[in-house]
Amino acid sequence: MLSIAEVSTKAYVGSKVAIRGWVYRIRSSGGVTFVVVRDSSGIIQCTARKNELQPDVYDSIASLGIESSVEFHGTLKEDRRSPSGYELAVDSCRIYQKNDVFPITKDQGEEFLLDNRHLWLRSREFTSILKVRSTIFRSFADFFYENGYYQVQTPFMVSTAVEGGSTLFKVDFFGEPIFLNQSAQFYLETMIYSLEKVFTIAPSFRAEKSRTRRHLTEYWHAEAEVAWIDNNEMMDIEERMIYYIISRVIEDNEDDLRMLGRDPDLLKGMKPPYPRIRYSEIIKTANSIGLALKYGDDLGADEERQITMKYDRPIFVTNYPKELKPFYMPVDPENPGEVLNHDMLAPEGYGEIIGGSQRIWNYDEMMQRIREANLDEKAYYWYIDLRKYGSVPHSGFGLGLDRLAMWIMHLDNIREAIPYPRTIRRTRP
Ligand code: 4AD
Ligand code: MG
Repeated sequence: MLSIAEVSTKAYVGSKVAIRGWVYRIRSSGGVTFVVVRDSSGIIQCTARKNELQPDVYDSIASLGIESSVEFHGTLKEDRRSPSGYELAVDSCRIYQKNDVFPITKDQGEEFLLDNRHLWLRSREFTSILKVRSTIFRSFADFFYENGYYQVQTPFMVSTAVEGGSTLFKVDFFGEPIFLNQSAQFYLETMIYSLEKVFTIAPSFRAEKSRTRRHLTEYWHAEAEVAWIDNNEMMDIEERMIYYIISRVIEDNEDDLRMLGRDPDLLKGMKPPYPRIRYSEIIKTANSIGLALKYGDDLGADEERQITMKYDRPIFVTNYPKELKPFYMPVDPENPGEVLNHDMLAPEGYGEIIGGSQRIWNYDEMMQRIREANLDEKAYYWYIDLRKYGSVPHSGFGLGLDRLAMWIMHLDNIREAIPYPRTIRRTRP
């Protein structure tokens, strides 16, 4: 059977067609019932006339509730008053399931909608969000495949931290305490010695007690690791990757963006190169807009929001103070208090979407930093081994796909960017 979008063309006007889907809106007046039906492709108005149908058939159509599942057969007509410009004049129907009242109506509270996420996902807004999200995931992978990378998989149940112990979720593994993975990075690093260029898309878990608009406890993390390149070359790749994803979304989902109120032309204007600004400069910028940050302070969600409101495209913030970043980032030989890292901050108040860096590849430097960080050398034996056997300079990054989706669609909260958000207060449905 053709989809609603496929049927809704001039070519079918005057022909017998059939569509199937779910009742989106319904109203009756003066012996005519207008049923707007939706499927994954769009909506169409179907018109049932009392004087053209058997009384029982007409009555069963007129009494359908929102979200009933139906199939309508009839003739396609052009009609300027209907939402898509076409309507289907019904001559027969099949009702798969008839509902009376759908629990979700207009003006319901946030918590109610979150409890009923499994039903709320059917809204037209969510349908568009999920379509854009699908393009983002696919185009991330396409970009790296097109550039000679291999997709690999890494474990979710692990015994080492990547981004510090404070945000680890503990799991009871047959009596042994282990963790849910925070980042695939260290495992990706093990694979550059065979594949040189690798990427993965997987959930990462963070036991962060943050209740900001941009924190999830389980989020989708797209990470890449590359041999032989430095921090600057990594940023070159990332800015091309981000613009590639944006361009694909504009190409494949222009209607979805418009439905969500996002102007595709504005996104299209966000062409690389993206400004590369040192952390010390960002602190000055922050001070100039009235933020009381001093050198050595970390940038939180609120500071990043205010700073990135000033920019019309993403920016990189490089050279963070060593103390603010994990042990695996090398110090900058020209600025020993700083590391060779980069965060990419999305504009318009969205803030950090990527965290990346060059990696320490020298054995002695790695051992010194592991000791400074008070880490258990034994637990990291395999990570340390990489610096003993054929070590090479390399860099990598992690991109939060839910945050990227949130920014691309200009959503207010990261919970709107993922079908089933996991936050400190929610693990259902
Ligand atoms: O900056 P992060 O912690 O960096 C890493 O995990 C590196 N090991 C990645 C790497 O180099 N391979 O996380 C990377 C990105 C952040 O920039 C952010 O977009 C996202 O992951 N992220 C979150 N997204 C949603 N909810 C959270 N709680 C997130 N924490 C990080
Ligand atoms: Mg980060």
